[in-house]
Order: sequence, then structure tokens, then C-alpha cells
Amino acid sequence: MVMELVIATRNRKKVGEIRRILEGIPVTLHTLDDFPGCPEVEEDEATFEGNAIKKARAVAGYSGKPSLADDSGLEVDALGGAPGVFSARYAGEGADDRKNLEKLLSELRDVGKEKREARFICVIALALPDGKVDTFRGSVAGRIGTEPRGESGFGYDPVFYPEGHERTFAEMSADEKDALSHRAIALRELRRYFATLMND
Ligand code: IMP
Repeated sequence: MVMELVIATRNRKKVGEIRRILEGIPVTLHTLDDFPGCPEVEEDEATFEGNAIKKARAVAGYSGKPSLADDSGLEVDALGGAPGVFSARYAGEGADDRKNLEKLLSELRDVGKEKREARFICVIALALPDGKVDTFRGSVAGRIGTEPRGESGFGYDPVFYPEGHERTFAEMSADEKDALSHRAIALRELRRYFATLMND
């Protein structure tokens, strides 16, 4: 049985990461490009789980197919867990990756190297058209550098050093990031879930 699945994000980098990690699973992957009329969902929940579930349910309801949504972000200890669920909009109106990253570095200007602990969190929600939903969570600990380094990845990758590594996510190859990342951990959980479904 080949299952159809809609990836409920317009972020191409995320779609790429999700495709790579789900490779080999017998699912036909669609993206929101295949459902151009799908309404935008406001990410106004207080938790990653809440936002991921809201997005996955909306797309499953619209497309009539099982849908998978990712809500993710960066939690910085010295900032009381910010930017957290606001990671994509941290710099406010007109925020983009560069502005968010500049704001983060400026907020951490006076914070010493040993106090810059952070973690990326990713929650994947899988929603069925009947409203049933499951969530899968991954996190990766690390620290925030003092200047951007590297060109790959997206978002806060150029300032995030995963624990035990002296290179940022943006200095790593896609495969290296996939071996460590919060999204890859959550997706591997999802892979295991699919494997049990297919063996039932
Ligand atoms: P979302 O699209 O609402 O889940 O927003 C997630 C935001 O968190 C992104 O815009 C990025 O700023 C940040 N983020 C999530 N995952 C990553 C990652 O793997 N690398 C870098 N930044 C990330």
C-alpha cells in the first residue's frame, strides 16, 4: 500500500529536509504547491504542538489526505526560552532570517560564551482527514555563537553550534545536519510509526 501525504509547509528547505529523511518509505509526497488554494493558517498557539496540530488538521481537512506539519523554533536559556514559538517572527513586522538572526545576536551581546545554551525543537504533527492526530518531537542542544558562520541551511543555522561540535549547522553538509537535527529526530520517530502501521 502506498500512502499519500501532504507536507503542510511552504518552506522549501523544510520540504527538502522532510523528503530526504522520509526517503525509502512507500509514501507519495505532495506539497502545498499541489493545493494552491489551501488557506494560510495563523500560527497563534502557545506551543509547538498546538501550532503543528492546527496546521496539519487544516491541510488534511482541505486536501482530504493525511497531512504532515512541522512547527519548530529555537529556545535560548539566557532569553527565558525566547524566541520559541515566535522564532519565525522574532524581529517583528517584515522579519526574515537575516533580521531574526541579527536581533538574536544583539539580544545576546552581553551574554558570555558559557551562558549561551540553546536548543532547536521540532514537532511534527500527522493529521488524518477524520481529525485524528499524532505528534512526534525532536530536540537538539547546542549554543549560540557570536557571529554568523556558514552558508547552508536556513533560519538560525549560521549561529547554532550543536553540542560537541565546533561548526555551526550552516557550515555542515545536509547529511551532517540530518544526522543531528531536531527535525531529523522527530521524522525518524515518524518513520518508526509508519513502519509499525505497515507491519500491522
Ligand atoms: P515555523 O516555520 O513556524 O516552524 O518557524 C520556524 C522558525 O524557527 C524558522 O523560521 C527558523 O527561524 C527557525 N528554525 C526552525 N528550524 C530550524 C532549523 O533547522 N534551522 C534554523 N532555524 C530553524
